[in-house]
Amino acid sequence: MENSFINKDNGSSLNQTLPPFLDIKDEINSIKERKNAVILAHYYQSPEIQDIADFVGDSLDLSRKATETEANMIAFCGVKFMGESAKILNPDKIVVIPDEDAGCSLEDSCEPEEFRAFISQFTNSVVVTYINSSAEVKALSDIIVTSSNAEAIILQIPENKNIVFGPDKHLGGYLSKKTGRKMELWPGTCIVHEQFNERELVKLMTRHSESVVAAHPECHESILRHADHVGSTRSILDFVIDTPAQTVIIATEQHIIHQMKKSVPSKNLIPAPGEDGTCSCANCPYMAMNSLEKLYFAMKNETPKIELPEKLRLEALRPLKKMLDMSPKPATQNRTAA
Ligand code: 13P
Ligand code: SF4
Repeated sequence: MENSFINKDNGSSLNQTLPPFLDIKDEINSIKERKNAVILAHYYQSPEIQDIADFVGDSLDLSRKATETEANMIAFCGVKFMGESAKILNPDKIVVIPDEDAGCSLEDSCEPEEFRAFISQFTNSVVVTYINSSAEVKALSDIIVTSSNAEAIILQIPENKNIVFGPDKHLGGYLSKKTGRKMELWPGTCIVHEQFNERELVKLMTRHSESVVAAHPECHESILRHADHVGSTRSILDFVIDTPAQTVIIATEQHIIHQMKKSVPSKNLIPAPGEDGTCSCANCPYMAMNSLEKLYFAMKNETPKIELPEKLRLEALRPLKKMLDMSPKPATQNRTAA
């Protein structure tokens, strides 16, 4: 199978520095206008990237936004698989990402050839794959899901079909329990979400007896069992806005707290702890590779640019389109504060 690749023809955006007399935000905004670009950012990006973006959302919101934009260029601030999904959906647009090394531990855990061998063991099955995966793995799949639509999509799979799910075993385990469907699980994990620690969480909950807990389904079951709400990053944001509770413990990547503080500044939002009792584990090292400076150079030089062989793009597009077709319409509008 041909692989996707990052085009670095114009030179990498890394190791370049902006002249000190230029204001980086002004420069980004003027390139945006000149090139008719749109900046999409995930909730796990740094506050300054979230604040300069045209749209901030979860994986599903961002995929939808990528299909709606009329911009010529999409500057995708997240991790590589997200930019790749935008390119699969928009072959005629330029899709740039700030750092080509911004990967994902789930994607890394799932090599296409190993995944092909894994799924071939199961007959009469539907291969349901989390969007946190490479284009090559998507191409081997029947339906792509995100954490916000997975449950609704799995409930639409006929009962007489077996389900193979990858690459996140915690999300798969949670979905299996929620839907009552048995699933064959690929053993991948998110290095960020699996670090939350149950003992430390219980200590924190005891110290804040009035608190509620919101968790992403990539967390281990020992964390999810204490959660008052489990869902995608956007649903966690919605929960924090809507809950009458004034103290919420957040078991997901902590940069999402930036949007929560904008919407509900008076609430006490506490990152869930890791083994050492601190929140330092709740930082995605891949998301953290992006910076305003790298975004500026990516937009200016149009590199790193996502390119995909057309055959691979079409193979990965099929399950991605199926996801968009099978996704319930959003129950709430994205309530990310401006
Ligand atoms: P969402 O689908 O909630 O945006 O999550 C993406 C992700 O990478 C979580 O770690
Ligand atoms: Fe991947 Fe985890 Fe980072 Fe999300 S938080 S991008 S799943 S490593």
